[in-house]
Order: sequence, then structure tokens, then C-alpha cells
Amino acid sequence: MRGLMQLNTRARPHLLLWSVGLALLVAAFASFTGPSTGSVTAAPAPQTASAPRPSDDECLACHSQPNMLLSVGEDKILLTIDKAAFEESVHGKEQVACADCHADMDGFPHPDYAKDGLREFNYSLYKATQSACQSCHEEEASNAMSGVHELTLETGNHNAAMCADCHNPHYAESAAGREEVPDVCARCHSDIAATYKESVHGAALLDENNPDVPNCIICHGNHNITDPRTVEFRNNIPLLCARCHTDASIMDKYGISTNVLNTYVADYHGTTVTLFEQTSPELPTNKPVCTDCHGTHDISKTDNPQTGIALKENLLGKCQRCHPDATANFPDAWMSHYDASPEKYPLVYYVNLFYKFFIPAVIGGMLVFVITDITRRAINRGKGGAH
Ligand code: HEC
Ligand code: HEC
Ligand code: HEC
Ligand code: HEC
Ligand code: HEC
Ligand code: HEC
Ligand code: HEC
Ligand code: HEC
Ligand code: HEC
Repeated sequence: MRGLMQLNTRARPHLLLWSVGLALLVAAFASFTGPSTGSVTAAPAPQTASAPRPSDDECLACHSQPNMLLSVGEDKILLTIDKAAFEESVHGKEQVACADCHADMDGFPHPDYAKDGLREFNYSLYKATQSACQSCHEEEASNAMSGVHELTLETGNHNAAMCADCHNPHYAESAAGREEVPDVCARCHSDIAATYKESVHGAALLDENNPDVPNCIICHGNHNITDPRTVEFRNNIPLLCARCHTDASIMDKYGISTNVLNTYVADYHGTTVTLFEQTSPELPTNKPVCTDCHGTHDISKTDNPQTGIALKENLLGKCQRCHPDATANFPDAWMSHYDASPEKYPLVYYVNLFYKFFIPAVIGGMLVFVITDITRRAINRGKGGAH
């Protein structure tokens, strides 16, 4: 994303490059503001507190001028607001006024925003408009307050997402649709988004607008995003995937087995993870969860000829991360998600079958023997009594 990852910390007096006519008018006012100090402080209030709130037309008298540019650090910001597009936006249609969000602005000159870098400028506007967003969108805002982006912002890293990074406050017609979400995140997480788009889930979302596959926010949430590298998140991955992968009303459409969680929990890897969650939820498991074998943002169809893990050599690489001595036939030690059958794992199947008949036969035989023996003794005793 443009200029995002390189913060410019040098303070510079800001430059204003916009249409000549208004420049003269503004020059008269601009002399009040002086050079920017890079910190957010209130400018001397030019009007009294009881002054009426400025109308949109008052703001637009200046801000509808074309090519109204402001330099912040090494970047330039367009200050021109397209009146028609604003009126067509979700906020314009609801008659939310400029001053509803820019509640700290009562005309010109404006409060002294940070102008030493793009992200510092964005952050100062974020702080200035935050309580406005919050008062109309209480639930979303309060969720965002505990999310990983807000926590990152609070550490002083202003590259993390603020409301306006995901929602254009002036022109958006609605919140991002399902299939647009990866592009919202891609503004900053471009590598992950590119990987995701190639995955079985991402390709289905983008090529077919498939409503059944997860986009970023299905797995991470939109406002209350948690850090996915925690123990809790990792231990919960089998259930995250199982939400869809055990639901036959979804999976039958794609001919995908819904037995994947059961068979996973039944094997030695899954059993230990399940027990682990119950006994020590705070400790990391060293057993594989779904993503250790299938990948996370790069999940592919298991029979994909290049990357599919139904291919033994692809799967072996995954096992070797934890079983470094594993050799070519090591994956055979594992039954994958299959229950044993005459086609898959016949040996296991017939051994199971053998026990299924052998054990009842032995026990049944013993029972028959014991019962006939008791009966015989009873009859004998009866005969003896008759004597
Ligand atoms: C007299 C012309 C004028 C009027 C009226 C005006 N602005 Fe501005 N606005 C400017 C100029 C010039 C800048 C460039 C930065 C500066 O000098 O503060 C600016 C910058 C801004 C910024 C960027 C932050 C900043 O201060 O740099 C916002 C947001 C803004 N104006 C919103 C508004 C709103 C909302 C209104 C109506 C309440 C409004 N403006 C009225 C001229 C005006
Ligand atoms: C829904 C709330 C909201 C409304 C309504 C709103 N703004 Fe903004 N405005 C913001 C936010 C938030 C930012 C910061 C954007 C960012 O950081 O990218 C902003 C930024 C700006 C900027 C700086 C340039 C930019 O786009 O970052 C100007 C100028 C501005 N607004 C003027 C206006 C004017 C004029 C109106 C009315 C026609 C208006 N705004 C209506 C929330 C709003
Ligand atoms: C990291 C990106 C991101 C940030 C930051 C963010 N949002 Fe959202 N927001 C989204 C996405 C994506 C959706 C679409 C939700 C969906 O489809 O379920 C959304 C939906 C919404 C909605 C519509 C609610 C709905 O149920 O459709 C509102 C209102 C909203 N956000 C407000 C805010 C406010 C206010 C902030 C700042 C406090 C904010 N958002 C910060 C990504 C974000
Ligand atoms: C004066 C009240 C008000 C303020 C302030 C306000 N909004 Fe809104 N916003 C609304 C209304 C009303 C709607 C349309 C109804 C709805 O969907 O909630 C809306 C819609 C939205 C949507 C689209 C929701 C959807 O369902 O598609 C988003 C996203 C959003 N606002 C974000 C913001 C952000 C971010 C801010 C702060 C920069 C903000 N709003 C400030 C009233 C407000
Ligand atoms: C404006 C840039 C920006 C946008 C847009 C954005 N993020 Fe982030 N995100 C960040 C930054 C910066 C961090 C903190 C990175 C760090 O600490 O290394 C972060 C952290 C995260 C984390 C925590 C893991 C980590 O690396 O710290 C997740 C998960 C995450 N974002 C998901 C999303 C999702 C999902 C979306 C889209 C809905 C999104 N982000 C949109 C900038 C952004
Ligand atoms: C199917 C669920 C799923 C989807 C869809 C998904 N993620 Fe993730 N994501 C995870 C899991 C699980 C992790 C934990 C780390 C791991 O196991 O690789 C993670 C980790 C992350 C991280 C932090 C760790 C890292 O690798 O840097 C970020 C940031 C992130 N995801 C962003 C996104 C974005 C952006 C999208 C959409 C383009 C997305 N995720 C889609 C499940 C998902
Ligand atoms: C929101 C529901 C949903 C979630 C959550 C989800 N998936 Fe999927 N997944 C699907 C759907 C639907 C498909 C089929 C897509 C297609 O074939 O077009 C699929 C396909 C797959 C495939 C390909 C199967 C094949 O070989 O054809 C694998 C593997 C997979 N998912 C693993 C996972 C893992 C691992 C997780 C958790 C990290 C996960 N999925 C989370 C819905 C989901
Ligand atoms: C130890 C590695 C491993 C773990 C852990 C694992 N899988 Fe698999 N999974 C595989 C392999 C290998 C296949 C391919 C089976 C085959 O066709 O031979 C597969 C196949 C699948 C398929 C495709 C089934 C079909 O009908 O085509 C899905 C969906 C799936 N796994 C989901 C999951 C989920 C969800 C989890 C976690 C609950 C999980 N897997 C855990 C290795 C693993
Ligand atoms: C994330 C690490 C991890 C991955 C990946 C992994 N395993 Fe394991 N595996 C373990 C751990 C830890 C144990 C010991 C479990 C216990 O003792 O409770 C184990 C135990 C086993 C056992 C039981 C016998 C033994 O050596 O203790 C077999 C067989 C096995 N794994 C096969 C596989 C196969 C095949 C793969 C690849 C498809 C695989 N594992 C991938 C961590 C992993």
C-alpha cells in the first residue's frame, strides 16, 4: 500500500497546492495557523461555542474546488470532496452532515492536524472523528476497540487499520460485500491476500462468488479480530474448519466428506489435541491441527496435481516438520481421514472384522457352554431328586 509501511517522521511546514482563486482567500486565514508542529492541538477557536454548526454548503464552498491538494510528509492528499458522489453515498443519503463527523471543525482555520506523514495525518483525523462514528455505530466501534488493529494503533504503530481504511467515509455506498473483503485487507496484507486468492476457498469466492467458502472475516472477524498466533486460536482451529466441513447441507454439494473432524479426533494426533484443550487450555499443543497438513491461506484441493496432499510426497513434507526422520513410506502409518475398508487399509479392516466376529464367537461359545452345563446339572439334580 502506497507509503504505508514507511512512516515519515520529519516535520515539514505544509504546502498547499490548489486552485488559484481560493488560494488568495485562504492565504488570509492560513497565516493564523502558522507552521505545523506535527502534534494535534486545538487551534485558537475563531468562533464562539454558541456559533451555529456549519452547513455542508459552507464546507463545500472551499472543498468542492478541484485539485485541492495538501502535502503531508512526502505524500499529497486530495482535499476536494465530490459533492454529487458524497450525496449518493450511504452517509449522504442518510443526510449525515460534514460537521456530524468533523465535529471539531466550525469553519476555517481548522484545528492543527499532524502533517508530518500520511499515517500521522490519518491517525489524527481518526481520533477526531472516532467519537462520532462511535455514537452512530456503537456495536461495531466497541468491537473494534478490543481488536488487534486498535491494540496495534495504541502501541504507536499507526500502520494498523482505522475505520476509514476499510470504509470510505465520504463515498462508500455500503460496507464491503463478501467478495470485496479480500481486497479491503489486501491494501495492507497484500501477500496473504494474493495467496488466499489462489487457494481452493479464495478461487471459489472470486471466480464463482461462491457463498459457501470462507473469506478473511469468516475466519478472523471484521472488527473484533484476535491475534491468530495465540494458543487459544490454534487449539480452536479444528472447530473453526468444522463449522462448515461437518455440515452436510454445504459439503454434499461439493462431494466432500463430512467425516473429517471425527476421523481427525479419533486418530492419535486429534485425540491428544482434544484432551489437551480440556485439561490445559492455556498450553500450546505440539500435535498437528488441520492447517499443519492443509495449509492456511494456501489450502488446495487434496487431489491438486501440484500441491495436493493426497500425493504422498507432498504430505511427507508436512509430517517431516514434526517427525524429522520420516521416510517416504511414513505417511502410510496414518489412515488419513478414512475409516478402514476393504479398499482402503484392508489389513486394518480385516483385523477389525476378525475381532468383530472372533470375540463374539468366543464369548458366545463360552456362554452356550456355561448355559448348557448349568441346564444339564439342573436336569441331573432333578432326576436325582425323583429317586
Ligand atoms: C475557507 C475555506 C475552507 C472552508 C470554509 C473549510 N475548509 Fe477545510 N480546509 C481548507 C484548507 C485550505 C485546508 C488545508 C489544511 C489547512 O490549512 O488546515 C483544509 C483542510 C481540511 C481537512 C483536512 C485536515 C486539515 O485540517 O488539514 C478537513 C478534514 C477539512 N478541511 C474539513 C472541512 C470541513 C468539514 C469544513 C466545514 C465545516 C471545512 N473544511 C471548511 C479550507 C476550508
Ligand atoms: C461519516 C463521517 C464523515 C462525513 C459525513 C464527512 N467526513 Fe470528511 N472525513 C471523515 C474521516 C474519517 C476522514 C479521514 C479519512 C482518512 O483518514 O482517510 C475524513 C477526511 C476528510 C478530509 C481530508 C481528506 C481525506 O479525504 O482524507 C476532508 C477535506 C474532508 N474529510 C472533508 C469533508 C467534507 C467537506 C464533508 C461534507 C461534504 C465531509 N468530510 C463529510 C469522515 C467524514
Ligand atoms: C480491518 C477493516 C475494518 C475496520 C478497521 C473497520 N471495519 Fe467496519 N466492517 C469491515 C467489514 C469487512 C465489514 C463488512 C461486514 C460483513 O460483511 O459482515 C464491516 C462492516 C461495518 C458496518 C456495517 C455493519 C453490518 O453489519 O453490515 C459498520 C457500521 C462498520 N463496519 C463500522 C465501522 C466503524 C465505526 C469502524 C471503526 C471504529 C470500523 N467499522 C472499522 C471492516 C472494517
Ligand atoms: C450521524 C450518525 C452517523 C455518523 C456520525 C456516522 N455514521 Fe455511518 N451510517 C449512519 C447511517 C444512518 C447509515 C445507514 C444505515 C446503516 O446501515 O446503519 C450509516 C452507514 C454506514 C456504513 C455502511 C453500513 C452498511 O450496512 O452497509 C458504514 C460502513 C459506516 N456507516 C461507517 C461509519 C464510519 C466509519 C463513521 C465515522 C467516520 C460513521 N459511519 C459515522 C450514520 C452515521
Ligand atoms: C491500513 C492497513 C491494514 C488493513 C486495511 C488491514 N490490516 Fe490487519 N493489520 C495491519 C497492521 C499494521 C497489523 C499489525 C501487524 C504487526 O503487528 O506486525 C495488522 C494485524 C492484523 C492481524 C493480526 C496478526 C498480525 O500480523 O499482527 C490480523 C489477523 C489482521 N490484521 C487481519 C486483517 C483483516 C482480516 C483485514 C481486512 C478485513 C485487515 N487486517 C485489514 C494493517 C492493516
Ligand atoms: C479458512 C480460514 C482463514 C481464512 C479464509 C483466512 N485466514 Fe488468515 N489465518 C487463519 C489461521 C488459522 C491463521 C493462523 C496462522 C496459521 O496457522 O498459519 C491465520 C493467520 C493470519 C494472519 C497472521 C499471521 C500471518 O500469517 O502473518 C493474518 C495477518 C491473516 N491471517 C490475514 C488474513 C487475510 C487478510 C485473509 C483474507 C485475504 C485471511 N487471513 C483469510 C485462517 C484464515
Ligand atoms: C465458511 C465455510 C468453510 C470454512 C470455515 C472452511 N471451509 Fe474448507 N471448504 C469450504 C467449501 C464450500 C469448500 C469447497 C469449495 C469448492 O470445491 O469449490 C471447501 C474446500 C476445502 C478443501 C478442499 C477439499 C477437496 O479436496 O476438494 C479443503 C482441504 C478445505 N476446504 C479445508 C479447510 C480447512 C483446513 C479449514 C479451516 C482452516 C476450512 N476448510 C474452513 C467451506 C469452508
Ligand atoms: C495429519 C495430517 C492431516 C490433518 C491433521 C488433517 N487432515 Fe484433512 N486430509 C489430509 C489428507 C492427507 C487428505 C487427503 C486424503 C486422501 O484423499 O488420501 C485430507 C483430506 C481432507 C479433506 C477432503 C475430503 C474429501 O472428501 O475430499 C478435507 C475437507 C479435510 N481433509 C479437512 C480437514 C479438517 C477440517 C481437519 C481438521 C479437523 C483436517 N483435515 C486435518 C491430512 C490431514
Ligand atoms: C505439528 C506436529 C506434527 C505433524 C505435522 C505430524 N505429527 Fe505425527 N505426531 C506428532 C506428535 C507430537 C506425536 C506424539 C503423539 C502422542 O504421543 O500423544 C505424533 C504421533 C504420530 C504417530 C504415532 C507414533 C509415534 O511416532 O508416536 C504417527 C504414526 C504419526 N504421528 C504420523 C504422522 C503422519 C503420517 C504425519 C503427516 C501426515 C504426521 N504425523 C504429522 C506431531 C506431529
